[in-house]
Amino acid sequence: MNAAPLLAVDGLSKAFQGLVANRDIGFTVHHGEIVGLIGPNGAGKTTLFNCLAGFHQPTAGHIAFEGRDITGTTPERAAALGIARTFQIVRVFHSMTALENVMVGAMLRNKGVAHARSRALEELEFVGLGHRAEALASEMTVSEQKRLEVARALATDPKLILLDEVMAGLNQTEVREASQLVVRIQERGIASIIVEHVMEGIMPIADRILVLDYGAKIADGTPEQIAEDPAVIAAYLGE
Ligand SMILES: Nc1ncnc2c1ncn2[C@@H]1O[C@H](COP(=O)(O)OP(=O)(O)OP(=O)(O)O)[C@@H](O)[C@H]1O
Ligand SMILES: [Mg+2]
Repeated sequence: MNAAPLLAVDGLSKAFQGLVANRDIGFTVHHGEIVGLIGPNGAGKTTLFNCLAGFHQPTAGHIAFEGRDITGTTPERAAALGIARTFQIVRVFHSMTALENVMVGAMLRNKGVAHARSRALEELEFVGLGHRAEALASEMTVSEQKRLEVARALATDPKLILLDEVMAGLNQTEVREASQLVVRIQERGIASIIVEHVMEGIMPIADRILVLDYGAKIADGTPEQIAEDPAVIAAYLGE
């Protein structure tokens, strides 16, 4: 791990009219780290992703990526710098094949179609969808579409990937596979922030967990620390 953080967030707030969805949030993510982001429904997890990836303009605060201020950047610029994401509600291109969907990501750094195609195939293989390359996205299951989004994000060659509930709706075996996929992403040196309600998917693999409640960060620690934190138990985990 490099000493300088990959991502440094400081005093980040995001308000929608009167509603404060993110409130004075600060944290760092280091190169190659797996960071879980948990908290109750409506706590502001997806909003935070939208701010990090340039989809929302923060109301206050700063976001630095590799030491560079990227507060209020665009999604295109965030992707070019190395921040990739998936969407809580999958956003694949339904009328395109799996391969074409991933090529959209690969085109960010591979201007030639042939190169983009081979990069896309690599990532489809990586997420276990090599055999589905020619399937229409609309014909894939939601679980496959989620993996397809991960492949499309990876094809942009990110340094940080933001995964928004990729384990939702998966069975136990699939959750284990999804956890292993995140670990294999980490082995490539890519950091991830994972929003997840499926605790058995994230607790075993996360280096650190951040907890949001009502838009504010209420805890930041190892999975063991988080699991025993009375504030986290009261707000989210329960007994
Ligand atoms: N574009 C928007 N306009 C207005 N309010 C919004 C917008 N996006 C999110 N919100 C509100 O901000 C709050 C945080 O929502 P967010 O989607 O970030 O929560 P979340 O932690 O991702 O929840 P979940 O676990 O249900 O996905 C909610 O009250 C939500 O209604
Ligand atoms: Mg969400």
